[in-house]
Amino acid sequence: MNNGGNVMINAMEIDYTPLMARVDVLCDGEGDAIAIMATVACELFHAVDGFDWVGFYRVVTPNLLKIGPYQGGHGCLLIPFDRGVCGAAARQCQTQLVDDVHAFDGHIACSGTTRSELVIPCFDKHQKLIAVLDIDSDQPAFFTEHDAKNLNAMLQRLFAKS
Ligand code: SME
Repeated sequence: MNNGGNVMINAMEIDYTPLMARVDVLCDGEGDAIAIMATVACELFHAVDGFDWVGFYRVVTPNLLKIGPYQGGHGCLLIPFDRGVCGAAARQCQTQLVDDVHAFDGHIACSGTTRSELVIPCFDKHQKLIAVLDIDSDQPAFFTEHDAKNLNAMLQRLFAKS
């Protein structure tokens, strides 16, 4: 737990309710996707111990992702859809929950300390893929379906305005 006790981790389960409420307030009335991404990256990174890199990769041309707002160490700038965990999420339009990045064929190691990863596709109000949210942890198997479900709901709600 950190950030003034706003986020509780009980038996590894994160309470997303206060986090989502805060992000909703911060992004209220905001329709600019980059502004939303910057806010979400900042809030998630600082709220949860174990979220060691949080950021977005944006769809900039067909089949190519480019770095967007992020928090943590340097992220690589470009990821083609046929590479990495982010590419898989974008290509398949499906969340990737990776317990062990070393066991994921084609994983791109931006940091040597990353052990597990969660990548969630983001869609605009027309259900067009605009980006993926990438969260890395230095702990193995850090992410659960609970994280995927709650973060997915938050992202779909926020980007439905853009
Ligand atoms: N690991 C990602 C690349 C981005 S960095 O983790 C910031 C991937 O395999 O797509």
